[in-house]
Amino acid sequence: MIIAGNWKMFRGPDPAALAGLDAIVCPPYTRLRECVDAGLVTYAQNVHWEREGAYTGEISASLLLELGVTGSLVGHSERRQYFGETDETVALRTRAALDAGLQVIACVGETMQEREARETEDVLRRQLSVLEAHQHLVIAYEPVWAIGTGLTATPEMAQEAHAFIKSLLDAPVLYGGSVKPDNAAALFAQPDVAGGLVGGASLDVDSFRAICEAARIHS
Ligand code: PGA
Repeated sequence: MIIAGNWKMFRGPDPAALAGLDAIVCPPYTRLRECVDAGLVTYAQNVHWEREGAYTGEISASLLLELGVTGSLVGHSERRQYFGETDETVALRTRAALDAGLQVIACVGETMQEREARETEDVLRRQLSVLEAHQHLVIAYEPVWAIGTGLTATPEMAQEAHAFIKSLLDAPVLYGGSVKPDNAAALFAQPDVAGGLVGGASLDVDSFRAICEAARIHS
């Protein structure tokens, strides 16, 4: 079971309060070093595909590795929605990060409109078509309508999507989208749910600990 906390553009908790927790943290760039120094398995929230160059505002895999960062999220739906991330740039970022020696959690998922139009499988197929299995690649299934909304996919919906993803790509699949202490156990009990990518609930140490504990029981 893999649990990752995505702090997004929030300051996040005191890394020392998370010491000893079997989890990944994805803090904002400014707190990466603090998390690494606290001994946490630390991922960035994004990574560029070039080693270096004139790419203002971007960070490369080699710069992250130099800090002691272990991996990166790629293709989070907020990047896709607000910052022009495409399947092609997700593929470039993922490949470069894996080649450089970072681990990657690549995010996929459909919008509510796509789900209602019964396009979930088409969307997942398209998003996954640019990725190749790799021993350091994990997929996060995050239905966009469940992120930050309190609307969690039911365990059955998550299982169905995860099984579909696994039929296309051989990788562990995390569920993300309003994972909370009270729904985590039911989600983690599904056979193809390999853990969770936790946003809001990862900002609160007690909630995040409770989710990690639910994962530990199911591993
Ligand atoms: P949420 O976010 O848990 O706040 O819904 C999940 C994510 O965006 O990774």
